[in-house]
Amino acid sequence: MTCGKMTRSPNRSCYSKLRFQAILFLLAQRSSMGNDLIQIGNAPSPEGVTSGVVSASNLAPAPALAGDGKTFYLETFGCQMNVHDSEKVAGVMMARGYRPVDSHQDADIILYNTCSIREKAAQKVFSRLGAFRKTKGSDNKIIGVLGCVAQQEGERFFERAPQVSLVCGSASYPQLPDLLAQVESGNRRVMGLDLDTEDCFETEFTRRDNRFRAYLTIIEGCDQRCAFCVVPMTRGPERSRSGSSIIDECHRLVDAGYTEIQILGQIVNAWRDPSPVGWSFAELLARVAEVPGVRRVRFTTSHPRYFTPDIVQAIDSHPALCDQIHLPVQAGSSKVLARMLRGYSREEYLEKIHYIRNAQRAISLSTDIITGFCGETERDFEQTVSLLSEVEYDQVFAFKFSPRPNTAAVDFADTVAEEDKGRRLSVLQEVQRQIQLRRNQALVGETFEVLVEGYQPRLGQAVGRTTSNKVFNFPGEPADIGCYRQVTVTSAGPNSLVGERNDDRRLMIERRNDFGLQVSGRDFAEW
Ligand code: 5AD
Repeated sequence: MTCGKMTRSPNRSCYSKLRFQAILFLLAQRSSMGNDLIQIGNAPSPEGVTSGVVSASNLAPAPALAGDGKTFYLETFGCQMNVHDSEKVAGVMMARGYRPVDSHQDADIILYNTCSIREKAAQKVFSRLGAFRKTKGSDNKIIGVLGCVAQQEGERFFERAPQVSLVCGSASYPQLPDLLAQVESGNRRVMGLDLDTEDCFETEFTRRDNRFRAYLTIIEGCDQRCAFCVVPMTRGPERSRSGSSIIDECHRLVDAGYTEIQILGQIVNAWRDPSPVGWSFAELLARVAEVPGVRRVRFTTSHPRYFTPDIVQAIDSHPALCDQIHLPVQAGSSKVLARMLRGYSREEYLEKIHYIRNAQRAISLSTDIITGFCGETERDFEQTVSLLSEVEYDQVFAFKFSPRPNTAAVDFADTVAEEDKGRRLSVLQEVQRQIQLRRNQALVGETFEVLVEGYQPRLGQAVGRTTSNKVFNFPGEPADIGCYRQVTVTSAGPNSLVGERNDDRRLMIERRNDFGLQVSGRDFAEW
C-alpha cells in the first residue's frame, strides 16, 4: 500500500519545471502546424469546420517527459465543475507528455472523473468499471478514479474494484503530478484523499473542450451543511482564488479567442477575494465584465443565502453580465427548507427573487428542486408547485431525493415512498413545462442576440443561445458558428425558441498568428 494521506511533495518545483518544458514543447508543436487550427484555448472558429479541441491525432508527445507518449482516455460524469476539472486534469496529463485519445481501447491510462451527488450518478462509475473489465486487453491498462466517488469511497475502492490503481478526490488535484509519478513508478494503490487543503487547482495548461464558453473556477469546496448534500464531504472546505489571478485568466481567455466566460463554484457567490484587495463577489463580476473582449459572463451556482442586491446592480450596470441567474430553491415549504438546513425560508427566498424581478433588465431565472425529501408531505409539495407558479422560472432542474452517505439526512427517516417521489417529480415537470411554454411564446416577435454554437446540415439550422441561456434555432449556415447573430423569435416550444436572422453582419476575421485562423474577441466586442 502506498501513501495514505498525501503531503506536498518536496519535488513540486521540479514538476513545475517539467510542466513548463512540456508547454514550451506543445507551443513549438503548434507553431509548426501551419493552418491546422490547434489552440490551447479552442477559440470559436468562424469557419465552423475545425474542431478546436486539441486533437488526439495531431498532438505528438514530448518524448523526454514522464508520460513518454503514452495515451490517456478521460471520461467525465456530473456537473460543470467536474467538466472543467477534467479540462485541467487533461492539461496536467498533456503537460507530462501523455496524449489524449478518444476511446478507452486506445488508452494506456483510463481516468474516470466521477460524480456522487445522487446515488444513480455514483453507480455509473461502477457499471463502467464492470463493463470495462470484460473487454479484451483491459488487464494491461492503468485505471484511475477521480472526483467525488473517489473521495467518498477512498481506500475501499481498491477492494471493490481491484483493477483501479489511482483514487484521487478533487481536493487533491494540486498533488496530481506527484500521484501520477507514483503510478508511473509502478505503484498500483495510489491515493490522494486529503480534504484538509487551502489550495485551489490551478494549472499552467488547461485543455478546453468547449469552443465557445470558457469555464473558470473561482471558488472550490463548500462550507454549507445542507442535509441532503454530499459535496462538503467530497470537495473539501471552501477556498477562493485571488481576484487578480482570476482577472489574469480572463485576459488569457480573451487572447485565446473566447468571448463568453462561465464563472464556476459550488457556491459561486460565497467567493470573497482572499487578497488584501478584498473584492466582493459583485465587484469581481463587474471586473470580469470590464475585461476588454469579454462579451458574455455567466456564473453558477449561487446560493440564496449569499445572494445580495449588489449582484443584481452589477448585472444592471454591466451589459456583459448575462441576464440569467440560477438560484436553487430546493423546496417551496419553509418547514422542508428548515429540515434541509438551507438557511432561508420561502419568504426570504422570494425576497431575493423580488430584487431580481425589479432589475432594469428582464433576467431569466432557473432553479434546482428536490422532490420527496425526508418528511415532505403532500401539503409541502403543493407549496413547491405554487412557488413555481409564483416565480415563473425559465428552467427547472428537478430530482428525486436520494440519501447520500455522511450527510445529515441519512439519519432522518426517508419517509416518502419512491413512487411518490417519482409522481411528485412528474407533476412538477408538467407544471413547469406549461410555464416555460407560456413564457417562451410570449417572446414571439422579439429579437435577441444569439451566440451560434452549432449547425445541423440536415435541417439547415444554426443553433445557439441567448444571453438568457435560451436555446435558439434558426435557418443558418456553417459560417454562423462562433458568431453573434441577431435573431427574431417566430415560434417557441417549452425548451427552445425558433426564429429568423435579421442581420447580415459578418464577422471580421483576423489572421492572428501561425496557428491558423482565430476570431479576435475584440472584434466581437467592437460591433
Ligand atoms: N438527492 C437528490 N438531489 C440532490 N441534489 C443534491 N443532493 C441531492 C440528493 N441527495 C440536487 C440539488 C442540487 C443539485 C445539484 O442536485 O437540487 O442543487
